[in-house]
Amino acid sequence: MMLKVENLEYYYGRIHALRGVSFEIEKGDLCVIIGSNGAGKSTLMNSLIGLLDASGDVYFEDKKLTRGKPHTRIESGIVLVPEGRRIFPNLTVVENLLMGGFTIKNREEGVERAFEMFPILKERQKQRAGTLSGGEQQMLAIGRGLMTNPKMLLLDEPSLGLAPLIVNSVMQTIKRINEEGITVLLVEQNAKKALAIANKACVLEQGKIVRTGTGRELLNDPKILEAYLGGSRKKD
Ligand SMILES: Nc1ncnc2c1ncn2[C@@H]1O[C@H](COP(=O)(O)OP(=O)(O)O)[C@@H](O)[C@H]1O
Ligand SMILES: [Mg+2]
Repeated sequence: MMLKVENLEYYYGRIHALRGVSFEIEKGDLCVIIGSNGAGKSTLMNSLIGLLDASGDVYFEDKKLTRGKPHTRIESGIVLVPEGRRIFPNLTVVENLLMGGFTIKNREEGVERAFEMFPILKERQKQRAGTLSGGEQQMLAIGRGLMTNPKMLLLDEPSLGLAPLIVNSVMQTIKRINEEGITVLLVEQNAKKALAIANKACVLEQGKIVRTGTGRELLNDPKILEAYLGGSRKKD
């Protein structure tokens, strides 16, 4: 078992954002959690990485993660690519990558790995990150996440604000990262494209997991189709 989440609960004041969330991810999985705006996706991701102090238990490779302190989770091999990318627009591409590896010794190796994965970043390495296209900025955010060579990558809505064709390429990139041996947990509103690459999938509604299956099962489920896929599988 790579990740085991048991009964996570989180409140923002009186807003009950996570309501007993439990799920498991095996080593090598590409797990997608779909959910509409406000379902609790970011709260879940930020809790897993220790940015929010949710109650409940998180086990990573059978070790219980202690509460708080995101850096201890990064050291154990779990990394979050946050919603909205959070790159530094005034720093260059390579400087942004180096920021993702500030806890490791061999940062050059991480940069080379990111360049191998995303050749466009190598071409643009001296360019300020703010001048990259949205898709390139997302690649940079993912490349930065890979700097520490994590065992597991968490991605919070990487498709947000990107044109459909670029979303396809981001999804293919995520699939490729998974095929290279990194376990992936992806949360998305863009249900159809995310489910298409998932081997395991869950639906999060109002802070609760209401459905689990394979990506294909959920893609073929009329109820899911109606609620998350715009009612038509042919529509992009
Ligand atoms: N900082 C915050 N303060 C108060 N409520 C919040 C805060 N962040 C999120 N929420 C609320 O918690 C719920 C889940 O939000 P979030 O995890 O951001 O959802 P998602 O990422 O799925 O869009 C929503 O009802 C949202 O309004
Ligand atoms: Mg969110």
